[in-house]
Order: sequence, then C-alpha cells, then structure tokens
Amino acid sequence: MTTDERGVSIWGLGRALPERVLTNRELETMVDTSDEWIKTRTGISERRIADEHTATSDLCYEASVQALERAAVPAESVELIIVATVTPDMVFPSTASLLQDRLGAEGAAAFDLQVGCTGFLYALAVAEQFVRSSAYETVLVIAGDLLSRITDWEDRATCVLFGDAAGAAVLRPSGGDDGILASYLGNDGSGAHHLQMPAGGSRHPARMETVKKRMHYLKMNGREVFKFAVKAMGDSAAEAVRRAGLTFDDIDCYIPHQANIRIIDASAKRLGIPRERVYVNIDRYGNTSGATVPVALTEAWEDGIVGPGDNVLAVTFGAGLGWAATVIHLTEELRHL
Ligand code: ACO
Repeated sequence: MTTDERGVSIWGLGRALPERVLTNRELETMVDTSDEWIKTRTGISERRIADEHTATSDLCYEASVQALERAAVPAESVELIIVATVTPDMVFPSTASLLQDRLGAEGAAAFDLQVGCTGFLYALAVAEQFVRSSAYETVLVIAGDLLSRITDWEDRATCVLFGDAAGAAVLRPSGGDDGILASYLGNDGSGAHHLQMPAGGSRHPARMETVKKRMHYLKMNGREVFKFAVKAMGDSAAEAVRRAGLTFDDIDCYIPHQANIRIIDASAKRLGIPRERVYVNIDRYGNTSGATVPVALTEAWEDGIVGPGDNVLAVTFGAGLGWAATVIHLTEELRHL
C-alpha cells in the first residue's frame, strides 16, 4: 500500500434467504436419490428455494437494506453498486441497475459482475480498489443467485446441491490502514466446459431446440470440479494469506465456499486450520453460488463468532474455472448488533 492509499473496511453486512425449505426427503420424491447419499456425499440436509414471484434482485434488495441499516449508511450516499450474479433478473439491464432504483441510491454507478461462485470476492476486490483510491467513499457489494431457476430438477447429480440466497456488504474507508488485507483472484479457462449453462447466450441463443435439449440448465462435471476445487482452495488460500503478511495461525475464522463438506474438510486439513475455526452452514442452505461467503460471514458476525479484531479468510472456486481468496481484518466500523 502506498502512502496516499487508505484502508477499506466492511461497515455493514446483510443476508436474505427465501422462507421455503426444500429437504432431502422431498428430493427423494423428485429424483432417484436418498437423504443418506446427499448428506454423506455433500453435507447438505436442506436448502432454501425462492417462490415463483421472487427474482434475484428481490433477495439482493433485502440483503442490501439490512447491510445499509446495520452500517448506519443511507442508501442515498451509496456511490457504486456491484451485483455478482449468474442469474440476473434478465440479461439486461443489470440487476444492479434495478437495485439502484429500488434502493433510492440516486445517481450511483451500477453494474453486474458475472464470475459464478467466486463472484462476491471478485466484486469485493473491485469495490476495494475504488474505495482505496478515494474514487468512492461508499460502495455496496452484493452477491445473489437463484440457482433454482437454472437447476435441472430431473438431474440428480446437480439438483441436490443448490439453493437460493443473497448476501451484501457495505464498504467504506477504515479508520486505519487495515480492513481488507489481501486478495488473490485467478482463473483457468481450460476447464470452463466442466461447469456451464450452454444456451441463452450468443453461442446458442434461446430456441425451441435449445429448450428441448435442456441446454438452459446448469451442467457440471462434478468429479472434475471437485478435483479442481481442492487444489484451488488450498493454493489460493496460501497465496492470499502470504500477501496479507500473515500465517494460518493468525486466521480466526475460515469461511470456505459452501459447495461440498468434503471439499471444505479437505481444504481445512490441507491448510492446517482446525475444524472449530471453519464456518459451515452448507447443511442448511446448500450451495448458493456467490452468496455462500457473504451469507456465512453475516451469520458468523450475527452469532458473535467473528467481530472487530478478527482475521477472516474467505476462499471460493467456481465457474471459469476460477478461484478467489481474500483476507479481511474486521474493524471497529463493523459494529456489534
Ligand atoms: N443421489 C444418489 N446417487 C447419485 C446422486 C444423487 N443425488 N448423484 C450422483 N449419484 C451417483 C452417480 O450416478 C454415481 O453412480 P455410479 O457410480 O453408479 O455411476 C455415484 O453416485 C458417484 O457419483 P460421483 O459423481 O462420482 O459422486 P461424487 O462423490 O463425485 O459426488 C458431487 C458428486 C457431490 C457432485 C461431487 O463431485 C462434488 O461435490 N463435486 C464438486 C461440485 C462443486 O463443488 N460444484 C461447485 C461449483 S458450482 C457452484 O458453486 C455454483
């Protein structure tokens, strides 16, 4: 950091989850699966699914209002809104635009960022640069997805994994030079075909044929993504912690992308982080794409598991195939509830 730069902190956190709970038992009636298989292979017991009237921007709005209230920051003072999503309300305008209007963040810049499950940490890194350089004082970062809308409910290999959620963070300058300490973002596009929604873009525009071929659903090669994830989580975490000038002993809470409990456990073991310092909520929400980290961070803070003075390590992987790891020192600006 140069002398004319400043620290960037999280001032407020919020989360939104649909009320409807879809249990493994219910999934047993939909596809050829079992509660036992899902729990042992993934760690998931239930997930939340949005009703037909709810769109991604609705959950993003709920999470944003909560984060802004908790930060005691009025929406009118937000200067930039970044929404990380792969399930925008529509292809355009951006979900961030819809949110900007609904929040009353008049004149704020707004755009979406589309990098799948790593989206929140990518958006956080982008937002951080704007605040650190003094371009903006207040940036709202949200990750929200309704993966249920692009899940093939006839494909047992994927439909048991996902859920809907949104999480939000308000970023502002910190009193000191701490706050977000380091990030490490990366991508290996040679594995892009292992996780994709093939149709609906310029390669395969929506047609009767693409619908018939079920090309508007998420397709995943689970085994390949699993292998990639364990390595990417370990490597990116190590690099982010190194860039922060810390060691894993300095990490008070590890928040991994909630995609599979076996991936979470394997990465924690590889990093030498004891289980009591790993935050897990995959059992209740499944994989909520970019929302896993902000939802988990918000919950951990609400429950008093993390607070000012703590170092949090968040690590994600996903479509791309990409990875992102961020070390955050929570500061006094994130007040107790
Ligand atoms: N119920 C019962 N059996 C199933 C189910 C199910 N829901 N799904 C697959 N199986 C079967 C398979 O058909 C296979 O049967 P076979 O041996 O007769 O062929 C068997 O279970 C084993 O299948 P695998 O795919 O090898 O199972 P695996 O242990 O790899 O678990 C899983 C699959 C859970 C998808 C795992 O590979 C995984 O988690 N991969 C990573 C996925 C991921 O993290 N994605 C995140 C990126 S996407 C995002 O975050 C939005």
